[in-house]
Amino acid sequence: MSATSAKRIIFLGPPGAGKGTIASMLSHELGIPQVSTGDLFRSAVAKETALGKKAKGYMDRGELVPDQVTIDLLKECMQEPKCKQGFILDGFPRTVIQADALAVSGIDIDRVVSFTVPEQELLQRLVGRMTCRKCGAIYHVSNLPPKIPGKCDRDGGELYQREDQKPEAIKKRLQVYKEQTAPLITYYRKKGILVEIDGIGIPKEVLKRVHAAIS
Ligand code: AP5
Repeated sequence: MSATSAKRIIFLGPPGAGKGTIASMLSHELGIPQVSTGDLFRSAVAKETALGKKAKGYMDRGELVPDQVTIDLLKECMQEPKCKQGFILDGFPRTVIQADALAVSGIDIDRVVSFTVPEQELLQRLVGRMTCRKCGAIYHVSNLPPKIPGKCDRDGGELYQREDQKPEAIKKRLQVYKEQTAPLITYYRKKGILVEIDGIGIPKEVLKRVHAAIS
């Protein structure tokens, strides 16, 4: 891996594009944290915190959590020492308001990697995804099955299907992506830091393309 790789990275892409899967692999390789607003919200929901109670309804319906709640959460997370050497933002920003907030907060971004995956493939990936309750590792019933059905390879944790994997929520999430998040492709292209990559292929191949995009 080149020493000159970008280390402040945004992963942009529709639900099911593989952002979480590839961010986890890249995070281990580069030694920088994966900051997933989706994971942070899911953890808050599981712990039934005030934030989790606020976010749950939006998430289950496939809608975005309100901008200000999300911006505050992200800013708090970015204060942590582990983010000082770099980070992979997985799922943030998702609206122009969030992108503007990031820009004015003084958090510089080196590269935005935008994943392109056809809708039919997204649907297949989303309906078959399974997530570990303990560590958040991501599997797929046919694309990436665990060694023992229903159990995480890493820690034996129970694998579950997210609430937002129900067909109505998936439909809504894809619509929300097109309307509210896809405009960020043009937003970051204009800033000259966007690289679009093909998200089709086994995760290792996609990861190779990401390395090329950030070097
Ligand atoms: P979030 O958790 O961010 O969900 P998402 O962006 O909709 O993305 P997903 O996690 O569904 O997909 P992914 O691209 O990470 O793909 P994955 O790697 O899992 O957000 C959830 C909710 O939180 C939002 O709806 C919203 O309510 C709220 N939220 C979060 N951030 C917010 C924000 N900034 N503002 C407001 N609200 C926010 O892969 C999917 C499946 O495909 C897996 O099964 C995987 O095994 C498989 N797969 C992955 N890569 C490949 C491959 N190359 N080939 C074959 N299969 C693959």
